[in-house]
Amino acid sequence: MPTPPTILVFDSGLGGLTVLREIVKTRPDAHYVYVADDAFFPYGHHGEDEIVARVVPLIGELIESHAPDLVVIACNTASTIVMSHLRDAYQVPFVGTVPAIKPACASSKTRRVSVLGTRGTVKREYTRKLISDFAQGCEVTLVGSGELASLAEEALSGQSVRDEDIATELAPCFVGYGADDPARTDTVVLACTHYPLLLERLTKLAPWPVDWIDPAPAIARRVSDLLGPANGNGDTAGAEMIFTSKRPHRLSAALTPFFGGRVPA
Ligand code: DGL
Repeated sequence: MPTPPTILVFDSGLGGLTVLREIVKTRPDAHYVYVADDAFFPYGHHGEDEIVARVVPLIGELIESHAPDLVVIACNTASTIVMSHLRDAYQVPFVGTVPAIKPACASSKTRRVSVLGTRGTVKREYTRKLISDFAQGCEVTLVGSGELASLAEEALSGQSVRDEDIATELAPCFVGYGADDPARTDTVVLACTHYPLLLERLTKLAPWPVDWIDPAPAIARRVSDLLGPANGNGDTAGAEMIFTSKRPHRLSAALTPFFGGRVPA
């Protein structure tokens, strides 16, 4: 029986689960280690140097203890700053998560796109460069949200989150005079992996319908291509979940669907 590949998926918290869920669908044969750096959450509130100083050695320790075949940085706030540092430091293949500006601008009909991310992600030189390279003539509005990642964590943890609080974070994405304005925003890039956790609520609270662009399926395809052909069906592969804070969490039932039905150890 071939050994299943180990994929380590890393985020500041629970947002990377939205990426994990797509990877599990494409690679049910793999063993998964999901790491939530909740001791340092939210990354969006930290400076660039702090994030590099936190993530690079932490990923080194995780590689040492779990020997993954591939590491996914399922966090835009980290990926837009740490990928070159990680690739310089470690041999393992890495896949990052960065704002899906290119496909969003390619598909927008009104040529008006918003990028909703953490305050850190929208400030990054990396994000600005994606816009200058791939906006393809679209007007791109950068919206840095201070609270949405935390609201998503609260919602997934079963706490009640008020519509008004979500709507306030969302409002600046909607540029235009309403659903009939031919120059209104018609596409919103979900540039933080936490936000797809709230997709149903975002859709309900949007002042008019838009396309929400989630890069997770594209990341899953990239992971699968890098790993090569699947080994078996995953019957022997398991799943682990690590919280860096080591705080107790009672999330098992909410987490299982993201792991394709497996209960993470
Ligand atoms: N999930 C992370 C991202 O994709 C950010 C959340 C945070 O601020 O820690 O950007």
